[in-house]
Amino acid sequence: MCGIVGAVSNQNIVPILVQGLARLEYRGYDSCGVAVYANGLKRARSTARVSELMAQIATTHLQGTTGIAHTRWATHGAPAVHNAHPHFSHGPGADASSRPGRIALVHNGIIENHDELRASLQAKGYLFQSQTDTEVICHLVDSLYDGDLFEAVKAALGSLRGAYAIAVFCKDEPHRLIGARVGSPLILGVGPDSQSHYLASDAMALAGVTDQIVYLEEGDVADIQLGKYWLVDKAFKPLTAAQRPVKTVHAHSGAAELGPYRHYMQKEIFEQPRAIADTLEGVTSIQPELFDGADASAARVFKDIDSVLILACGTSYYSGCTAKYWLESIAKIPTQVEVASEYRYRDSVPNPRTLVVTITQSGETADTLAALRHAQSLGMTHTLTICNVATSAMVRECELAYITRAGVEIGVASTKAFTAQLAGLFLLTLALAQSRGMLSDTEEARHIKAMRHLPAALQAVLALEPQVIAWAEDFAAKENALFLGRGMHYPIALEGALKLKEISYIHAEAYPAGELKHGPLALVTSAMPVVTVAPHDALLEKLKSNMHEVRARGGVLYVLADADSKIESAEGLHVIRMPEHYGELSPMLHVVPLQLLAYHTACARGTDVDKPRNLAKSVTVE
Ligand code: M6R
Repeated sequence: MCGIVGAVSNQNIVPILVQGLARLEYRGYDSCGVAVYANGLKRARSTARVSELMAQIATTHLQGTTGIAHTRWATHGAPAVHNAHPHFSHGPGADASSRPGRIALVHNGIIENHDELRASLQAKGYLFQSQTDTEVICHLVDSLYDGDLFEAVKAALGSLRGAYAIAVFCKDEPHRLIGARVGSPLILGVGPDSQSHYLASDAMALAGVTDQIVYLEEGDVADIQLGKYWLVDKAFKPLTAAQRPVKTVHAHSGAAELGPYRHYMQKEIFEQPRAIADTLEGVTSIQPELFDGADASAARVFKDIDSVLILACGTSYYSGCTAKYWLESIAKIPTQVEVASEYRYRDSVPNPRTLVVTITQSGETADTLAALRHAQSLGMTHTLTICNVATSAMVRECELAYITRAGVEIGVASTKAFTAQLAGLFLLTLALAQSRGMLSDTEEARHIKAMRHLPAALQAVLALEPQVIAWAEDFAAKENALFLGRGMHYPIALEGALKLKEISYIHAEAYPAGELKHGPLALVTSAMPVVTVAPHDALLEKLKSNMHEVRARGGVLYVLADADSKIESAEGLHVIRMPEHYGELSPMLHVVPLQLLAYHTACARGTDVDKPRNLAKSVTVE
């Protein structure tokens, strides 16, 4: 999704801006650009990769001490150079070429009232060069500018509806940069020399430049100048350093190293044993304190709840669906799981004794944040997040948190973050079970032992990669696939199907196997591979009946079976034998071959695995 980098310095900041964009590339984008003050506004924009933008800059010798840069993920207007940010203001009253702009601006988010703002600015004589909603902010600031950019931006913000993080500068005040945010993340970086200051949508963009970060909160506006900065809150009241402290943040640029792997997704799949070990590090017993927030005690909250509501999107939603099985069978607590983008807009019946659990890798997903705020506005104040980014908006806004330690995930298709979420959710299940008197010491010890062994068990599953590659060769020639699972492995089938469609562009659907005969069986022919997650659990015999239904229609089965599932390979029946049956934690193992299947199928089809078309890593717009 869109990324922002901005800087004010006494040195040429173009290399920092462009390297910052390169670090944000993993979020997904379709165009990029950079603008600086150099005796006026100058810019370079591209619909290719950041590396192409770098080549353009090298040719044009673009340099400056104040500037902004952006990676764009198109929402309004096609991916095209004229729609790429930064945008410049033009006019009013003259054609754009005869009237050089004075305001340069980049924006993440969506301005909902852009049509009406555009009409009123056009009526004033402003000429629009793009189809973006962003350009209206640029002209709006220009129309309100009277020698003080901070005042012009503040005045403009009052007219904007929607979500935004912006960075803006003006050629008439060349050593000043203004940033503001509502609904989209923005951070301020303080340079080691305390002279240079930066803005970015993500601390990762400034890795290697500064680790001194101030997190802007909803409605904050930043006025950045050489050697100094000011912040005001949403009421434009000045903020003190204590209110918005500078934090030391270690955003590892090293995470961007591919090492021996072909793609980040492959690297991240193989990092799962380490990600789970790190996420569970130090957990030797089940304690509610594991989930304490900055100011809240989980022990107190857990005593005050009688149900769980999980809110998440995409892969994170599927980890929530898996956790529902654990929470209801182990902790015996009623649990509902909702897609965040649906929950936020539907009429629901709030229960103040519900624990609202958000699950998010990035901690910045707009729909999940909005769903959390909606639940809070309905009086559900007990909130907990399972999140991979400790400094994210989600962690800041939830009462309690469990930070997964998957490490930075670059591939758009989430893999290690998913299994790390499952580890966090299993711990939450045990903590709630304990709080409700449902966890004996023997059971606690058994579960901890199984969790400790997870990294080794994952390693054994990863060793199955050559067998999965053989399956992928078959899948690469298909256009449709069906995934089946039952019980807590049904969400794993859903996740397998999502992975395959996301990166290989093969149409894939997942069903609880018992539903097959209620409709999807009509699709089954010899051209339809049917992936079946078949662990040796209580539902295995039922699942075997469903598999017969597929075979009888000529469907070709690809089965993930445990050692003792007693399913043998045969004509039209391909079996990969998982190393061991892993009880309640089995979903964490069974998802791994499905990740590998999607990955190798995509490689065989030659898609852009880490940056699949139309998708972004961090979905910070609605
Ligand atoms: O950062 P989040 O976990 O909140 O992201 C949620 C989804 O956007 C994300 O899981 C998405 O579905 C991935 N591309 C799945 O691989």
